[in-house]
Amino acid sequence: MTSSRRLLVLVGSPRRNGNSATLADGVRQGAEAAGSTVAVRFIDDYVSSLLRDCRTCRRPDGECAIEDRFRELLFDEFIPAEGVVFASPVYWYGLSAQTKVFLDRMFCYYAASYPGSAQAIAGMARKRLGLVLVSEETYPGASLGIEHQMQEYARYTHSELVGVVRGTGNARGEVRRDERSPLADAEQLGRELFERKYSDYRIDTPRSGKVWPA
Ligand SMILES: Cc1cc2nc3c(=O)[nH]c(=O)nc-3n(C[C@H](O)[C@H](O)[C@H](O)COP(=O)(O)O)c2cc1C
Repeated sequence: MTSSRRLLVLVGSPRRNGNSATLADGVRQGAEAAGSTVAVRFIDDYVSSLLRDCRTCRRPDGECAIEDRFRELLFDEFIPAEGVVFASPVYWYGLSAQTKVFLDRMFCYYAASYPGSAQAIAGMARKRLGLVLVSEETYPGASLGIEHQMQEYARYTHSELVGVVRGTGNARGEVRRDERSPLADAEQLGRELFERKYSDYRIDTPRSGKVWPA
């Protein structure tokens, strides 16, 4: 099935030819093959500062006073996207600082003290999400904290975390040689992001008892 929906792939590594970027490009290729409109962006092209204390930092008109390109990334790329894939290296068993600061900086725009917060909140919510992670270590526990964080982000924003891809590599682009084929997984995630079956039941969720059509 094809889709013409808008997908943003956010790369949280400083390495333009690194492993996160390699898998991000796989997501792009899969998504474009499915007809999506895809933008791949490196967070640190846009974000050069940590979140500050909005109460003392915010301009009189309510705008964020930090002079970098975060606003452009949020309003021109993230909010209009119906799907977002975060592609981050594992740093200290967590997200890279680039990826985390992207999430933190959104606070400035969904906080009640921002005049347009209601629109920002509406624009942040109800997306299809994917997570792509690369680590040097292979053991599954290395990325579990991040997966949990992203699941909570999805729950908080009424979004759907439809897939997680985990690759292993250290040298630039080495993830291509990962025998578990994360590049193929990344392409598949991109292809299926908007179509993949997603379910998250509650005790009273009506259901037929079967998951797949016969
Ligand atoms: C600051 C830093 C912290 C890292 N922490 C971990 C870690 O906790 N576990 C791990 O398996 N790899 C860790 N790594 C290795 C990276 O995850 C690995 O090199 C990855 O391929 C980098 O992705 P990139 O090419 O997209 O930058 C770390 C690398 C750096 C630079």
